[in-house]
Amino acid sequence: MSQQLALITGASSGIGATYAKQLAARGSNLILVARDAARLDALAQSLSKEFSIDVAVLAADLTHPEGLHKVDKELRENQQITWLVNNAGMVVDGEFVDGDIANIQTMLTLNIVALTLLAHTAAQQFRARRSGTIVNIASVLALVSESANGAYNASKSYVLSLSRNMQRELADSGVRVQAVLPGLTRTEIFERAGKSINDLPVEKLMEVDDLVAAALSGLDAGELVTIPSVEDMQLWQAYENARIAILPFISLNKPASRYSQNLRLE
Ligand SMILES: NC(=O)c1ccc[n+]([C@@H]2O[C@H](COP(=O)([O-])OP(=O)(O)OC[C@H]3O[C@@H](n4cnc5c(N)ncnc54)[C@H](OP(=O)(O)O)[C@@H]3O)[C@@H](O)[C@H]2O)c1
Repeated sequence: MSQQLALITGASSGIGATYAKQLAARGSNLILVARDAARLDALAQSLSKEFSIDVAVLAADLTHPEGLHKVDKELRENQQITWLVNNAGMVVDGEFVDGDIANIQTMLTLNIVALTLLAHTAAQQFRARRSGTIVNIASVLALVSESANGAYNASKSYVLSLSRNMQRELADSGVRVQAVLPGLTRTEIFERAGKSINDLPVEKLMEVDDLVAAALSGLDAGELVTIPSVEDMQLWQAYENARIAILPFISLNKPASRYSQNLRLE
């Protein structure tokens, strides 16, 4: 890897901390972002020592305007940054209707609002330099409406949709955009939402090192959407083909014939 500098959000634990370790092992310098400055400092110290790289820490709460502004400013003004790993995210316990709406709003601020601002700034900066990588961490729940918290799933559908549109806009710009859709992964996210990881089916739970290694390998291979546990990516292509098949019919100048009974009579 030529000298890269990756800004990673949510780098104090789980997937973000693992990106930090694996990018450090590839020789990348790092800027680590999360709220817990002590954890970030400890990780920065150990990675800079082990891999002889520069690691900076930016403690910020991305759900607060000042924290988000601080990280956005760094992304806008530090011309050395070549990667954004847009990873910080949270889940709330329970389903949507009976869920705590204040928690849900905080989640949407982190999973959607903060991610969008940082993606926007990185896209503008990297496009101007004709080079850069944006990794947006979505979830397989982007594809699911059968279970889990509806607002969480919808926030991850948003990340997938935004990433796909960014890929279209940034094609041929020198900027790579990857959407990563992890399934259940062994991190702190469940405990933070008041759940126990021990209640999850082990056959569905991926180790975080494997998840990030697969995501980086997918990026190296030029994948736009990476779903680490899916062996047969033709299944994803079939899903995409079904979506594309409806496109010619979704906006026409008259309703479909099944609605003809109530059409206005001239
Ligand atoms: N684990 C899974 O099964 C799974 C599956 C699919 C997708 N994902 C996605 O993967 C991403 C990473 O989650 P994870 O599983 O690694 O969970 P995690 O271990 O709980 O890590 C979340 C990270 O986000 C940071 N964070 C939380 N709230 C923040 C805030 N307000 N401001 C700034 N940073 C904040 C946390 O650090 P601080 O507490 O220090 O701020 C932590 O570094 C999330 O977007 C999640 O939705 C996870």
